[in-house]
Amino acid sequence: MPGASASVPPQADIDRRFMAAAIRLSLRHRGLTGENPSVGALIVRTDGAAPVIAGRGVTALGGRPHAELQALAEAGPAAQGATAYVTLEPCSHIGKSPPCADALVASGVARVVIAVLDPDKRVAGRGVSILDKAGIEVAHGCLESEARKAMAGFLSLKGRGRPFLTLKLAVSADGMIGRRGAGQVAITGETARRAVQMMRVEHEAIMVGVGTIVADDPLLTVRLAGLEKRSPVRVVVDPFARTPPEAKLFDEADRHSVLLLVSEKAQRRQVDALRDRRAAIRAVASDYRGRFDPREVLRSLGVMGLKSILLEGGAETARQFLAAGMVDRIALFVGSTTVGGDGIPSPVTERTVPAGFTVAEESRFGMDRLIEYERMD
Ligand SMILES: NC(=O)c1ccc[n+]([C@@H]2O[C@H](COP(=O)([O-])OP(=O)(O)OC[C@H]3O[C@@H](n4cnc5c(N)ncnc54)[C@H](OP(=O)(O)O)[C@@H]3O)[C@@H](O)[C@H]2O)c1
Repeated sequence: MPGASASVPPQADIDRRFMAAAIRLSLRHRGLTGENPSVGALIVRTDGAAPVIAGRGVTALGGRPHAELQALAEAGPAAQGATAYVTLEPCSHIGKSPPCADALVASGVARVVIAVLDPDKRVAGRGVSILDKAGIEVAHGCLESEARKAMAGFLSLKGRGRPFLTLKLAVSADGMIGRRGAGQVAITGETARRAVQMMRVEHEAIMVGVGTIVADDPLLTVRLAGLEKRSPVRVVVDPFARTPPEAKLFDEADRHSVLLLVSEKAQRRQVDALRDRRAAIRAVASDYRGRFDPREVLRSLGVMGLKSILLEGGAETARQFLAAGMVDRIALFVGSTTVGGDGIPSPVTERTVPAGFTVAEESRFGMDRLIEYERMD
């Protein structure tokens, strides 16, 4: 047939392909864009034999300039008549920079494909309406769930007023996370430990209970070559300020911050000694026993603008956050060795995954397995 287009994929396939690329691009600055989400944008020309990317942009470090403005700047006049792929609805409000929706209109793009509408209900749809009114064809919802995953922290903070929480635990083949009185016990191998370090890079804060600091004296930094600067803030749930001032955590406190969450029950003298070690101290409301409600802990971290937290144990802290329904994702590393009778039982094993979680991904790191569970809601 003359002009047959049998080999040209349908528009929906092309849209998914470029939106997937925009989502991958957005991951580059995840956790590094301040209060803004890390958004990906592509300007694609479809008037040739095959689609061609004319401009690409990811929200800049610190949150500005926005992805769309950078992609449009790179495309220049080639944006005329092109399709823009953006992982989040273009902004419509005049903040520190002019609205991205207006910039798209001015550029002459013919079509805009959006993955997720603005989560702020007061402005949702306004970016779309600016584009609509200018006669630009708009489609939204393309790869929405993938894009939501990529900006889960931002959506959680905007929608629920608290950061997205991932619980990471390493569990031995017999369901233990450590051994009583033994400090750090190697549950998994080097490859899995490096994967954990990569997870740290992808979060804005690492959190542990003070029991882990006392037992293990961990550094909780990123030690992957070239990524050392990407160590997130280290948060300790420490109602009575029991963290020892000589803890290794403080050795690098000038480069990577330490935040201690204390209650009003903490002794002033101990708090001052920790402040002298350059710890930031944040008072969190507690009950008469100095217990925090995990919701309040997360709310307090959300007020600080933190969007994603990696909770790295120990057993008691993990149990409390699970019981309060505050865990959104579980990353369970399962080792191949056993700990034995004096082990500390894990609050989660493959056989005791809390109700409401389902397996999202499984992978292997040498002899160890990683099972990632997602909350079904
Ligand atoms: N395999 C792994 O993935 C992994 C990871 C981390 C740790 N671990 C192991 O786990 C062990 C430590 O676990 P753990 O259960 O003893 O300690 P933990 O969970 O690290 O810390 C527990 C302490 O944190 C404070 N805390 C936690 N939740 C609280 C809340 N809602 N309100 C107020 N305070 C709260 C309390 O401090 P106060 O006692 O001062 O009230 C509590 O006793 C170590 O042996 C370590 O090696 C294993």
